[in-house]
Amino acid sequence: MSGFELVVAVIYLGAAVCFVLGLRFMNSPVTARRGNAISAGGMTAAVLATVVLLIHSGTVSGAAWLVLVAGTAAGGLAGLYLAQTAPMTAMPQLVSLFNAVGGGGAALVGLFHFGAAGEPVATYVAVAVVLDVIIGSVTFSGSLIAAGKLQGLIPGKPITFPGGQLVNLALIAVVVGSGGVLIAGVHSVLLLILLLLASLGFGVTMVLPIGGADMPVVISLLNAFTGTAVAMAGFVIGNSVLMIAGALVGASGAILTKLMADAMNRSIGAIMIGGFGTGDSAAPVEAAGGQVRVLSADDAAIQLAYASKVIIVPGYGLAVAQAQYEVHELASLLEERGCEVSYAIHPVAGRMPGHMNVLLAEAKVPYSQLREMEEINPEFSRTDVALVVGANDVTNPAARRSGTPVSGMPILDVDQARSVIVIKRSMGHGYAGIDNELYTDPKTGMYFGDAKKAVLGLVAAVKTLVG
Ligand code: TAP
Repeated sequence: MSGFELVVAVIYLGAAVCFVLGLRFMNSPVTARRGNAISAGGMTAAVLATVVLLIHSGTVSGAAWLVLVAGTAAGGLAGLYLAQTAPMTAMPQLVSLFNAVGGGGAALVGLFHFGAAGEPVATYVAVAVVLDVIIGSVTFSGSLIAAGKLQGLIPGKPITFPGGQLVNLALIAVVVGSGGVLIAGVHSVLLLILLLLASLGFGVTMVLPIGGADMPVVISLLNAFTGTAVAMAGFVIGNSVLMIAGALVGASGAILTKLMADAMNRSIGAIMIGGFGTGDSAAPVEAAGGQVRVLSADDAAIQLAYASKVIIVPGYGLAVAQAQYEVHELASLLEERGCEVSYAIHPVAGRMPGHMNVLLAEAKVPYSQLREMEEINPEFSRTDVALVVGANDVTNPAARRSGTPVSGMPILDVDQARSVIVIKRSMGHGYAGIDNELYTDPKTGMYFGDAKKAVLGLVAAVKTLVG
């Protein structure tokens, strides 16, 4: 190793330390921004070191530099634009698209390296190429389908077709067969392309039958796949920073997937074998049975103004309406009257992990008031009013019974509170596409409206009431 290469290796090591530190800081909303900046700094240093290494080695021709610069500029600008313009509620689709790009890019590295070798490669390289192409292409096509489902371009309900399992088995057989032959030392680009096509097909048939309610877990799993594919690409071209960054994304993605699956009481295997959510967002105006009690802003304000303990339950509707500031204002108003206010955070409330924490932190809600599900659930029975703002599935008592699409998913025990106020626009369904039994509970009052306007109405009504 030359002195120059040693310097680059040390920069790569520094970058790896930044990634680990970044992940550590991302553990808490207070330090998450710093964590992001540290990781981004590490990656910038690693990319710059690689560019300098390429210039120094002189292995890249003039035309290839053009492709490199144009690709970096196009990808960088597209990423910057998307990250700045995508609404927070569309983050899962965006993450899925980024997963697709990462997986696809890693698969291309393997393809190119194998094709350019022109002769049999060492077995460990062949193993890395085969795994890179399989995982990268499954991630590419699977993530595109997942993004399409989340964006509503493809129906969110499980999509199956006759003989689907047979097609899956055939695709797996092609992947295992062609991958095995390539690892055995046969240098065939055609076989590698067959492996690529079968893996792409498998990514599609794997994600299509998975229902909308399981999509967060699937996206997280595909994110872990992206990391693993990138690590494999690192092995293929012998780049340590790719190996480390990929392994970190793979490992943290796998941990997040497990946490999310546990939060929904699902096994990852069960999700991959058969979807349960429909993703149907039909909005019936009638409840499926039972009477619905409709509240006005004044009715709801009376309950809140005289409560001594209130738990606010934020959900996806709060995020869409961007009602976090108004909710904080209402909470402050109640606290000034001596009321104890806390926020119940369900791990999959909203559309991405930590969605509610991020939104409420943005509105400067004190972290100490944000309470995790296990911690807050025992408190609902001692609560005067549970105020549900745009949350649905995560409060549905049907989850406690078997035979419903949300069965087994841990929920916030909102129905244990003395009184419940639900703010949403209609009797429409949540992500899982089913009626919510909470809405016909006699102690529940529905205060219909857009979350932002409805909460503003509540603030005004409470102010008028208490003078
Ligand atoms: P949902 O069950 O999806 O319910 C959100 C509710 O918000 C809807 O019923 C909708 O009713 C209401 N809403 C929509 N726009 C509104 C607005 N402008 N103002 C007021 N209300 C509005 O949300 P949740 O309770 O947060 O549960 C999360 C669901 O999303 C779970 O099923 C979960 O599996 C899934 N999911 C979660 C994630 C992660 S990781 N967090 C990612 C993807 C999917 P109306 O139409 O009647 O207003």
